[in-house]
Amino acid sequence: MKEISLKFPKNFFFGAATAAYQIEGAWNEDGKGESIWDAFSHVPGNVDNGDTGDVACDHYHRMKEDVAIMKELHLECYRFSVAWTRIIPDGDGAVNEAGIKFYSDLIDELLKAGIRPLLTLYHWDLPLALQNKGGWLNPESVNWFTRYAEVVFKAYGDRVKDFVTFNEPFVFTDFGYVTGAFPPGIKGDYRSKILAGHHVLQSHGSAVRAFRKIVKDGRIGIVLDYAYNAPATQSEEDVAAAARANEFWAGWYFEPIVFGRYPQTAAKWFRERGQLPPVTEAEMKLIAEPIDFLGINHYFCNYVKADPNNPREGTAPVYPPVQHTLMNWPITEDGFYEMLTYFRKVLKVPLVITENGIALNDIVTVEGTVEDYDRIDYMKRYLSALSRAIEEGLDCRGYCYWSLLDNLEWAAGFKDRFGLVHVDYNTLKRTIKRSGRWYSALIDEKNK
Ligand code: BGC
Repeated sequence: MKEISLKFPKNFFFGAATAAYQIEGAWNEDGKGESIWDAFSHVPGNVDNGDTGDVACDHYHRMKEDVAIMKELHLECYRFSVAWTRIIPDGDGAVNEAGIKFYSDLIDELLKAGIRPLLTLYHWDLPLALQNKGGWLNPESVNWFTRYAEVVFKAYGDRVKDFVTFNEPFVFTDFGYVTGAFPPGIKGDYRSKILAGHHVLQSHGSAVRAFRKIVKDGRIGIVLDYAYNAPATQSEEDVAAAARANEFWAGWYFEPIVFGRYPQTAAKWFRERGQLPPVTEAEMKLIAEPIDFLGINHYFCNYVKADPNNPREGTAPVYPPVQHTLMNWPITEDGFYEMLTYFRKVLKVPLVITENGIALNDIVTVEGTVEDYDRIDYMKRYLSALSRAIEEGLDCRGYCYWSLLDNLEWAAGFKDRFGLVHVDYNTLKRTIKRSGRWYSALIDEKNK
């Protein structure tokens, strides 16, 4: 690790991120339709401890209080997602005005507080009615998503200038069809995973095209998760193994968006197994529709070595002897720096770090404070790597910490706390953690 240095240009923005299902609650209020996450979390055994997003942080009813907290933290940007089921309850039918109003009020409140909204259209909560029609496996999904996106662009494009189409296509397609940890909860079906991903990528491109017609003065991108695979040693075999691993994971979505083609080794692998559908030139052109920025969510890095006996990509993980978080994710800021260096070389559009953060078991002390020094340490290490990469020429425009609030960590439930703000799930009381105060001082320092 290098010396900690946290220098950021004045026009670089610092924010925090959330997602609708993880914080809003009010799962069936004001005309909202049921999403796949509502249905999935209501089945016992799917989410740890039987937790659900029915109430979550109750943000739906406490939106003004939460924006006031963001203001108190001096945040410059707030990344949130819109629940498709609030806007179009059954996914492709009538528009629900109460849903439109909720986000419209949120956006007005943010602008009043001087906070820039960054809106994500899809953070995993597909309308259940569309899942019942095949979900992302149905080629019609491209039209469903495009129409939903158009409704959102028309409703908010006058005030919101930064949009994201999808959050982490790798995660929701892989966990939905291979590990089965997320809805629709299917295991081992690579063919469906790749097909769903192909429709998601086309939906992304189609929404970008619609955006250009509706919002003339805005920016649009996609958010990809990049748990970077770095070589365990600099041997030729390990370097090649890491490149292969990247193709099969994040690269499967990164390369079509950035280079206009699926990664070659992985594509050959999936094609030989009948798992990759025929891909037309027009589809690829749609997928690679130019974007204005790329969002990257990054939490940790994997170290891999070549292992010819491994039947998948011929790679095997090497576990670094470093600290791990409550999610058991290694703290590997040097790998983050290495990944940023790769982006500096290949990316032609600006980068935004749309998520980065650490889960801890935070508690409120008798004095009513939360002393999460480990989070401050994590942020310093990762932000220092980012600061260094920017000094070396990386065009990165902003950073959103994950997350503003402690919230429902999907299938892991409420126990893993990622927030700058503690939430007591019994009383729903919010307490700004020490890390939140530290972050706001960092923002002030940058703006001095
Ligand atoms: C997701 C968030 C999630 C976070 C921590 C990302 O994969 O976008 O919704 O809570 O990581 O796991």
